[in-house]
Amino acid sequence: MLLLLQHSLGTHIVTHLRDRTTKPATFRTLAYQISSLLAFEATRDLATREITIETPLEPHLSRVLSEPIVLVPILRAGISMVRPFTELLPDVSVGYVGLERDEQTAIARSYYCKFPPLGARRVLILDPMLATGGSAVQALQLVHAQGVALKDLSIVCIVCAPEGVRLVEALDPGIKIYAAALDRELNVRKYILPGLGDFGDRLYGT
Ligand code: PRP
Ligand code: URA
Repeated sequence: MLLLLQHSLGTHIVTHLRDRTTKPATFRTLAYQISSLLAFEATRDLATREITIETPLEPHLSRVLSEPIVLVPILRAGISMVRPFTELLPDVSVGYVGLERDEQTAIARSYYCKFPPLGARRVLILDPMLATGGSAVQALQLVHAQGVALKDLSIVCIVCAPEGVRLVEALDPGIKIYAAALDRELNVRKYILPGLGDFGDRLYGT
């Protein structure tokens, strides 16, 4: 289920991320900014519970977040999205999945995996690019294998391609995909068009 960010500031930020003249320092700032907007969207429906607090004037029945969240960035590029989320969410732990696409086949190879206790947690997988969807689906399966229900899994990305959205939906049509932009297609090398190039390379200047 694709949920696209509808926000003029988001469109502005993605335009500058796409621009080939944007240098790594600015690219990192823009990645932080768009991830903050996506964090608002992806946390919109978190569960809350009642709590009574005292305002300076009277007791007040209100609500606070009741679900601990686990973030799972996909290395390397997903690292850029962690801080905006941890700054917003009071109760969060972070697991990591290391995946790298083979340059010839575009098939992702897993090289690292470390999770906090997952169980019945709500998990947000963070990866700026959803291209073929191979990396996202591998990450979803790794987390699911730890006992997390597919309904408790979401993906947050900056740019996605129709192919990637379809692959995730084939795994489970209910998995929420939060994205700032849905692009046209993949090229023969499985890069997103118009896209923004290789996110990890632009982020780290490699
Ligand atoms: C990029 C990106 C995603 C993946 C998306 O990572 O960050 O993880 O490609 O492509 P897919 O949907 O076709 O799997 P990459 O493998 O280039 O590694 P990096 O983050 O270390 O640069
Ligand atoms: N990974 C990227 O960083 N960019 C793409 O366009 C596709 C995969």
